Amino acid sequence: MERIAIYPGSFDPVTNGHMDIIKRGLTLFDKIIVTILENPAKQTLFTVSERVDLLKGALKDMNNRVEIASYGGLLVDYAVQRDATAILRGMRAVSDFEYEFQMALMNRKLNREVQTVFLMTGLRWIFTSSSIIKEAVKFGGDIKSMVPPAVHAALKKKLNI
Ligand code: PNS
Repeated sequence: MERIAIYPGSFDPVTNGHMDIIKRGLTLFDKIIVTILENPAKQTLFTVSERVDLLKGALKDMNNRVEIASYGGLLVDYAVQRDATAILRGMRAVSDFEYEFQMALMNRKLNREVQTVFLMTGLRWIFTSSSIIKEAVKFGGDIKSMVPPAVHAALKKKLNI
């Protein structure tokens, strides 16, 4: 049986930290479905279709084992729909723990069959997040080494830099 994981997130936009988690995840799962879902607590810079395109561009070399999707409902429902047995999430620092713990337990309460698997990002990405990258680039910071090249270009275009 194929081991399928959903890697959910806002991906606004995808960063090298996300790419690192996907690469690590592929050592555990046969297929990863990178899925853009709605986080009601966040206002996004890129539209869903822009985020899908950026993910597709960044992950084109992993085409046969990585799929890009978006879904407008509950994460666990999408996992069932796609025969995924796991939700993959990246964990950077202790500060991520409370939010991730709450989300994982809520998802378990909603569906006991879907397990959440946490992977640690590489040390070099421990401080990066889409939000802090967007803030840095907005004020002229050089974030080129933290995102795929097309994301760097898209950020500059979107923010008129
Ligand atoms: O990258 P993020 O913003 O931390 O990802 C959070 C996300 C999108 C995975 C989360 O908000 C989510 O799962 N949204 C879909 C609705 C849902 O199932 N929420 C969790 C149970 S309440």
